[in-house]
Amino acid sequence: MAQRRSFTVAKLIYTTITSLDGYVADEEGNFDWAAPDEEVLASVNELERPVGTYLYGRRMYQTMVFWETANFSAGPSQLMQDFAEIWRAADKIVFSTTVETASSARTKIERALGPEAVWQLKAASGRDITVGGPNLAGQAIKAGLVDEYHFFVTPIMVGGGKRSLPEDVRLRLELLAERRFSNGTVHLHYRTRE
Ligand SMILES: NC(=O)c1ccc[n+]([C@@H]2O[C@H](COP(=O)([O-])OP(=O)(O)OC[C@H]3O[C@@H](n4cnc5c(N)ncnc54)[C@H](OP(=O)(O)O)[C@@H]3O)[C@@H](O)[C@H]2O)c1
Repeated sequence: MAQRRSFTVAKLIYTTITSLDGYVADEEGNFDWAAPDEEVLASVNELERPVGTYLYGRRMYQTMVFWETANFSAGPSQLMQDFAEIWRAADKIVFSTTVETASSARTKIERALGPEAVWQLKAASGRDITVGGPNLAGQAIKAGLVDEYHFFVTPIMVGGGKRSLPEDVRLRLELLAERRFSNGTVHLHYRTRE
């Protein structure tokens, strides 16, 4: 009897820590108010752990590459050390027209975000893929490439800055899960409706 082979297409996921009014950074570019506490970081780590590939806009990459060399093993936060190790274990694709070389391992640079390439990556990856920051993620959302969303909504309004979601997009979502954290952050997990 012929053996059936299961074929799983990886999901593209946008995870963001945002203010209640929908910004990832305020008008001064600050996002210290978005820093997760231990309970939120533990949740973020569990979401990031199974991810195989991070797609990054150049600006988000330049923020996150800190984790390539971060070492908290002698410090109090095992969760931050866990995050660093999860980050280093994943493959990264950085989208940029200006950066020539990556400053982390397991990282390649791409000059353009092509939907075909993302579909191929989803088919070949075997593990889920994330996309960030909001500029690159917005393009992926508009192209219909994002399958799931995780919003960590911080209990603050910052009044302006860098929006977590693109304008001019209308999309129906299905709420899959929600969680309230003791610091007032709320996690909302959605998937895109067909
Ligand atoms: N709330 C939080 O927890 C948190 C955490 C980290 C960071 N942040 C904020 O998020 C910001 C990053 O988000 P962002 O929206 O500004 O930028 P982004 O999406 O990370 O990066 C934008 C850059 O990516 C490249 N890019 C975008 N689309 C491309 C395409 N189709 N093809 C090739 N390259 C492409 C371009 O780089 P080139 O200019 O090199 O071409 C573009 O300038 C950070 O600066 C920080 O303020 C917030």
